[in-house]
Amino acid sequence: MRERLQILLDIGKKVPNEDLTNDYGSYTAMKLISVNYYSAVFSGVARHPNRKLEGFDGAVYIDLFAGAGLVKLSDTGDYVGGSTLCALSNSKGFDFCVAIEKSKERASVLEKRLSIISPDGQFRVINDDCNECIDQAISIIKEKYQKPIVLAFVDPEGMEIRWNTLKKLSDAFFSCDFMINVSSSGSLRVAGKLKKGMDEVKETFSDYWGEDAEVVLSEFAEGKTPETKYGEKIGTLGRRVGDIIPIRDNGNNIVYYLLGYTRMTAGGSQYASAFKTLNDRFRNMDRTAVTNILNHINARGTGPLF
Ligand SMILES: C[S@@+](CC[C@H](N)C(=O)[O-])C[C@H]1O[C@@H](n2cnc3c(N)ncnc32)[C@H](O)[C@@H]1O
Repeated sequence: MRERLQILLDIGKKVPNEDLTNDYGSYTAMKLISVNYYSAVFSGVARHPNRKLEGFDGAVYIDLFAGAGLVKLSDTGDYVGGSTLCALSNSKGFDFCVAIEKSKERASVLEKRLSIISPDGQFRVINDDCNECIDQAISIIKEKYQKPIVLAFVDPEGMEIRWNTLKKLSDAFFSCDFMINVSSSGSLRVAGKLKKGMDEVKETFSDYWGEDAEVVLSEFAEGKTPETKYGEKIGTLGRRVGDIIPIRDNGNNIVYYLLGYTRMTAGGSQYASAFKTLNDRFRNMDRTAVTNILNHINARGTGPLF
């Protein structure tokens, strides 16, 4: 963890921090470690010379909720690379990246930061709602590559991702892995509102699940958890190999789950074991543990490491 956190801090130092950042608790570092670690495994396979022989012509990263490129960890004040920077800074790199961010200010700062990380300009920032511009993003990738291998990172704060958007990506690219942040408590909260008859959230719920709210609600009532249900849905897209990684706030309080799923193709077993490695490493990690390690790295340490 210490080594991995140091990597995030080093990525953060590559770009100026005076501009806008996305600010979250220290547990966010586990999400960013996952993006950096998994994308390195992914790029190692996707950019291996054998892929060219198989007809693949590019490794592409697409970030649907890209943020400002830099994250400030509110517990310690440390700056770490945001998801797009963590993915592109992996040791194997990508051929191209599309980063989508709805906020104008964040998209503009992200663009500046990415041009430092990726001076060859092999990226495109789209300032829009990812659900509205997904066709444009797909066209940009298709114009450059005929048979790319794609990694999609989907990191909403709530239920902003529509199921149909993921389906479009999946249909467009046979080789497309997904890493998705699923807020189980968010889904259950909205489900609770629906049960109370607050129909104004019905559309958000149905857009997110891609199904009638009633069907999903009845499965929840039977005891199915949102993260399991979402994993099953990704399975219907043909990505059956993966894992559900809980990201813990303090103790056993889970903030969200990271779902990593791949189609079992070239490198499939390496991809799958990367998800398992992350899950194992985070088993005893929570917000306090990450905060303590960051304090030790930056010589602010007073408390015990664990
Ligand atoms: C959880 S943050 C993402 C953080 C980023 N992935 C990172 O790790 O640095 C969610 C981001 O998505 C943006 N956003 C919210 N709704 C969006 C949408 N529909 N399409 C694209 N971006 C959106 C927000 O402005 C915010 O910056």
